[in-house]
Amino acid sequence: MVSEENQKLISKLIFSTIVPRPIAWITTVSKEGAVNLAPFSFFNAVTTKPPLLFVSVGKRKDGSLKDTSRNIVETGEFVVNVVSEEFLEKMHLSGKDFPPEVSEPEELGISLESSEKVKPPRVKGVPASLECVLREHLNLGSTPMDVFIGEVVSITYSPEILNSQRGIVGRLGGKRYCIVKNEVDLSNL
Ligand SMILES: Cc1cc2nc3c(=O)[nH]c(=O)nc-3n(C[C@H](O)[C@H](O)[C@H](O)COP(=O)(O)O)c2cc1C
Repeated sequence: MVSEENQKLISKLIFSTIVPRPIAWITTVSKEGAVNLAPFSFFNAVTTKPPLLFVSVGKRKDGSLKDTSRNIVETGEFVVNVVSEEFLEKMHLSGKDFPPEVSEPEELGISLESSEKVKPPRVKGVPASLECVLREHLNLGSTPMDVFIGEVVSITYSPEILNSQRGIVGRLGGKRYCIVKNEVDLSNL
């Protein structure tokens, strides 16, 4: 049995050593049609064929599902928006606890546009948006966390992202972030 104090240190070490973490800025819609937007850094690619990714969402303090989880469970769809420097502060603020009836994009003045293949809209102006359909829902850990495996069914992107990821934001320990400023290209080694 791990003591509470040790568990706190383990969590802190996971947040501070598995870095930088990519950020999935996720749009979902509720059954009633309200748009939700929140960031998640327990996120990564799983496979490319088919293109699968995962995101791991914790529970609220009272044990209830976060809005993102509830919407993914209810609708089976979500959109991962890639965060660039100009969206950093708004992305961070969208991680605060908003009541389900409040739309984060409206509250924070974030423009949305329709996606190609799924209902949740994408954030306008981000470098890329990956539209996903839920393939697996796992419950892992003691809380437990809701781990969603999504299949990417459509990608909207600005072509520059294929050659450079400059300006993309990642999550560090605490409330710190990094921004890609210094790319090292070893393709001719
Ligand atoms: C950069 C960043 C990364 C985050 N990563 C996660 C994560 O991986 N898993 C998680 O459960 N919460 C994460 N959070 C917290 C959620 O964004 C936060 O709980 C949010 O209020 C959930 O919103 P929702 O209830 O609208 O889904 C993160 C917050 C920030 C700012």
